[in-house]
Amino acid sequence: MYMSRTIDKEIIKNFTLLKTNQSLVYLDNAATTQTCVAALKAMDDYYTKSRANIHRGVYNLSIRATEQYEAARDQVASYINADREEIIFTSGTTHSLNQLAYSLSPRLSHRDNIVLTRLEHHANIVPWQQMAKHYGFTIRYAELNKDGELNANSFQKVINANTKIVSFTLVSNVLGTVAPGQEIIKLAQASKAVTIVDAAQAAAHITLDVKKLNCDFLVFSGHKMYGPTGIGVLYGKKIFLEEHLEPFLFGGEMVQSVSYENATWAELPYKFEAGTPNIAGAIGLGAAVGWIKKAGIKKMATQEEKVISYAFKKLTPLVKIVGTRKNRIGIISFTIPGIHPHDIAEVLNQNQVCIRTGYHCAEPLHHHLGLNGTARLSIGVYNTTKDIDALVVGIKKVKKLFA
Ligand code: ALA
Repeated sequence: MYMSRTIDKEIIKNFTLLKTNQSLVYLDNAATTQTCVAALKAMDDYYTKSRANIHRGVYNLSIRATEQYEAARDQVASYINADREEIIFTSGTTHSLNQLAYSLSPRLSHRDNIVLTRLEHHANIVPWQQMAKHYGFTIRYAELNKDGELNANSFQKVINANTKIVSFTLVSNVLGTVAPGQEIIKLAQASKAVTIVDAAQAAAHITLDVKKLNCDFLVFSGHKMYGPTGIGVLYGKKIFLEEHLEPFLFGGEMVQSVSYENATWAELPYKFEAGTPNIAGAIGLGAAVGWIKKAGIKKMATQEEKVISYAFKKLTPLVKIVGTRKNRIGIISFTIPGIHPHDIAEVLNQNQVCIRTGYHCAEPLHHHLGLNGTARLSIGVYNTTKDIDALVVGIKKVKKLFA
């Protein structure tokens, strides 16, 4: 029996695309969430009422645009319990991780190693591989336990005195498993390694507190937390941003003074934001963060937990779920033996059910698990058990068609 969607009427009101397409079953939130009305409205206000470049004009329009952009930085800083100088706007998690790989790697040599994990998204593997070719360091991978989780033991085995960087995903974009962030960071810091947390899949689902985590860097994207695309965040501890990280992009606004021969850098965080930034995107992200805060991330997580538990129960007899129920939020990847994941998604699409298929930008993990692609559902705050029922109807249709 379908459960009522009534409880989510308030939530649905905040998502125009879903409100106007009530038969759509959107289950691809790990790829991108829908944009909340607060973010759309804030961006529209900027474009229609305050459109000007920031930090450059003494006229009112520019001052207003600057204030909105910097208020967004404040919102984001308070969302993860950081100081405003520690928030750098980037184009997304991929940009943030590239910046870190590019800026931190020159300190490493062939004697050093960095530790990543078997779970990583391509964005936390490929930039390091490129830098390793250049600087000669080794990449080690922390192993998963039998439940597809990372634990302290996974890291103890690979971190040694030559480990200079430990970079890991807090929530897997394939398995949905949550890593014990604080524990991993403590271990890494005992070896004096720099710690980087990829929070792309965590930011909309669990409370992030960089002071409690005590990580050196943390990165995430706006489009996975009900904000716009093309905006992301690189959080860095002030001391690291001041003393250990060199700018990655050079140009206007990131400089203090420029001569024909040389340049000096602006203060934090501006030295890391060269050129005209994604002003509307940052303002939209600030509004999305404000909306999440108002809705309450714990309340959202409770609703999501109900839906994912229901999905697990309903899907277990129908498909092969990758990994176990343990310690998982929001994401289920699965296969149906004998049916290609793309065929599953095509048939589901006929029923207006949106899921992702393939490697989900985690090809090494799929090969490590002996999988040649999976189908993945990933939920957001607006999903209900009714959406899972629609998915189940679709999967039964797939199985019948390909029987
Ligand atoms: N990283 C996004 C995903 O997992 C795009 O789908």
